[in-house]
Amino acid sequence: MVKLANAFTCTSCGAAHKKWAGRCDACGEWNCIIEEAPLSSGPAAKSLGASRGRAMALSDLSGHEAPPPRSQSGLGELDRVLGGGLVPASAILVGGDPGIGKSTLLLQAAARFACAGLKCIYISGEEASAQVRMRAQRLGLADAPVKLGAETNLRDILTTLEAERPQLAIIDSIQTMWADNVDSAPGSVAQVRAAAHELVTFAKRTGIAVILVGHVTKEGQIAGPRVVEHMVDTVLYFEGERGHQFRILRAVKNRFGPADEIGVFEMTGEGLSEVPNPSALFLSDRDTPAPGSVVFAGIEGTRPVLTEIQALVAPSPLGTPRRTVVGLDSGRLSTTLAVLEARCGIPFAGLDVFLNVAGGMKVTEPAADLAVAAALLSAREDIALPADTVIFGEISLSGALRPVGQTENRLKEAQKLGFTNAITPARGKTGDGAGLKLRQMADLTAFVGETFGAG
Ligand code: TYD
Ligand code: MG
Repeated sequence: MVKLANAFTCTSCGAAHKKWAGRCDACGEWNCIIEEAPLSSGPAAKSLGASRGRAMALSDLSGHEAPPPRSQSGLGELDRVLGGGLVPASAILVGGDPGIGKSTLLLQAAARFACAGLKCIYISGEEASAQVRMRAQRLGLADAPVKLGAETNLRDILTTLEAERPQLAIIDSIQTMWADNVDSAPGSVAQVRAAAHELVTFAKRTGIAVILVGHVTKEGQIAGPRVVEHMVDTVLYFEGERGHQFRILRAVKNRFGPADEIGVFEMTGEGLSEVPNPSALFLSDRDTPAPGSVVFAGIEGTRPVLTEIQALVAPSPLGTPRRTVVGLDSGRLSTTLAVLEARCGIPFAGLDVFLNVAGGMKVTEPAADLAVAAALLSAREDIALPADTVIFGEISLSGALRPVGQTENRLKEAQKLGFTNAITPARGKTGDGAGLKLRQMADLTAFVGETFGAG
C-alpha cells in the first residue's frame, strides 16, 4: 500500500504546498504553513466515468424567478450590507480580528431578528451560555426570544438544528467547531473546511440561514476565515482600530447584493450603535484648517462618504526616508509621489512622508489620488487648504486628472455637510454641481499652480 505523505497547508488562505516554507506563495503571509494529515487516506477513487450516474433535469435561463424573500433586522446598517436583509438558506461569513465585536454584533442582530419574528438559535463554541446571557443583559437584550447553546460538536449541533428548525442559526466561531469524522484538531484547515462545508450544505438543504463567525488569525496554528470564503454566499468583514470606537462592516462578497457596501457602527458601553451618517462622524474633529489635511468626497458601496486625509512631511534623518500609510494603499502613495516629482518637479527625496485616513476608515478608490496629492503638497508647503473645500479625482501617470464615477452624488453629500467649494477633474459629469462652487482641473500641474502657486 502506498503511504501518503503529509501535506502542508497554509492556514491563512488554505493553499496546499508540497513542502514547508516560511512564506506562503499564494497569499504572501509569513509563518502560516503547517503540516497536516492528508484529507483522504484511502486509495485514489476510481474514475467517475466508470459507473453511470443519474441524468439531471436541466432548465432554461429564461423564466420567472421571484426575488428572494428577505427578513430585516431593523439594524439598518446591517440590513444594507446584507443587500437589503437576510435571505433564507444563505450562508454568511462574518470575519474580523478577535475582540473587534463580532459576537456583540451578532447577538444584537439575533435579538433584533428574533423580535422581528424569526426563530433564532445562537450557538457559542467559545463562551458558556451564562457568559452570553450576561452579555445579553448588559446589552439590554435579555428579553429577546433567542435560543442559546454552548457546543462545539458539529454532529450534535446539526441534530439540534434539524429538530428545532430555526430560520437563523449563528455559529460563533467556525474555528471552535469540531467534526468527528475529520481526523485533525479543531481550528486546523481540514476541520474548519469540513465544518463550514457541512454547515453550508445544511443551510442549502433545510432553508435555514447560517451565519459563521471567523476570527482573523495572526499566528499560524489556527485556520483563518479566508479558508472558507469560497464556500459561503456572503463574506462580511468587521473592521476597526482597537483604540477607535468606530467599527465598519464591509461586504467583500455577496451573492445577494452589492459587494463593497459598508455599514458603520460605534462601540459604546451598551454595545454597538448604528451610525447612519458616517461623513459627519469622520469629519467631526475638524475645526480650523490645518496644513496637510484635506477632505475627500468618496463613495463606499452605494453611499457617498466624506473622509479626512491627513499627511505629514518632515525632513528625514534616514538614508531611505520613511513612507508610512494608514488606511490607504501604499502603492498608490508611491505612484502619486512619483507623478508629483516627474510631472510637476516637486521632489520628496530626503523627506519622511506619513499618510493617514482619519477615524480608522480605509479608502481604496483611485478617486482619492487628487486628495492624497493635495494633502502631501499642503503638508510639504505648510499651506492649509480652505476648510470648506472637498477634493476628488484620479491621477493618471501622465499627470492628467481623470473624471471619476458618481460625481454628482459626491457633490451632493458635500453640500449636505456644509461644504461650499469642490476641486474636481475637468470633464466630470457634475450636473448643476449641487450648488457648490467648482474648480475643475485638467491636470496636476494646473492644480498645483492654482492652489499652491508653484509647479
Ligand atoms: P466581542 O463581541 O466579544 O468580540 P469578538 O467576538 O469579535 O471577539 O467584543 C469584545 C469587545 O467589545 C470587548 O473588548 C469589550 C467590547 N464591548 C464594549 O465596549 N461594549 C459592550 O457593550 C460589549 C458587549 C463589548
Ligand atoms: Mg467572540
